[in-house]
Amino acid sequence: MELMKDIQAMQSWRNKYCTESIGFVPTMGALHAGHGALVEQARRECDLVVVSIFVNPTQFNDGGDFAAYPVESERDLQLCRELGADAVFMPTRALMYPDDYRYRVTEEQEALQWEGAHRPGHFDGVLTVVLKLFLLVRPQKAYFGEKDWQQLQLVKGMVDAFFVPVEIVACPTVRDDNGLALSSRNARLSASGRQKAAAFYRHLITAAEPDAAADALRAEGFEVEYVADTEGRRMAAIHFEGVRLIDNVAL
Ligand code: PAF
Repeated sequence: MELMKDIQAMQSWRNKYCTESIGFVPTMGALHAGHGALVEQARRECDLVVVSIFVNPTQFNDGGDFAAYPVESERDLQLCRELGADAVFMPTRALMYPDDYRYRVTEEQEALQWEGAHRPGHFDGVLTVVLKLFLLVRPQKAYFGEKDWQQLQLVKGMVDAFFVPVEIVACPTVRDDNGLALSSRNARLSASGRQKAAAFYRHLITAAEPDAAADALRAEGFEVEYVADTEGRRMAAIHFEGVRLIDNVAL
């Protein structure tokens, strides 16, 4: 597995493998089985797999959340080796943002709702870094988890809007046995909190209406940011033990 830490190394690697099909898994590290499933699907469908590990500062509207985001680089690299990734791209902020984020991608409708309404600027950061990564890695296919449902829709929309020649592959959310959606942030929950947080998923699938789900979640002791039904999906964000958790289910 090759580790590339700068832009030129990434571009040279891609030029070397210009005839192979590339599957790309963008991540912010602290990898878990959900990322593992994305890499495995990419392995099955493409000649070579590239994983990026970059905690993208521009998508954090809350500096405390950015500072608390788990960083486990050595463990992540070992996991990528075990999963059979061919290359890992691990740049720094200075390299990814030579313009200091003066140039950015903005979507002006859906990015302002739900997640976007509660995390101003979040999707500008996501779309900007994803476009930069696509231009560097130039994959045929890129793999995104359905857990970040709104992100997935906006990335698909951006690719269509800018004619980016990348197929976006949506992969089902991977859950703990108790139903809790796997997330890098779960590492910050206590062992008992991780059990309790399973009620998040349970109430999303059982409540008849978003308001009823929100009430049931509050009764469990969660702080509810939003629960919303839209286009056949129920999306929600809660805070629990100081950790922000999101999830979504098909209605
Ligand atoms: O889903 C994530 O981990 C991030 O939002 C992504 C797509 C890697 C962009 O930083």
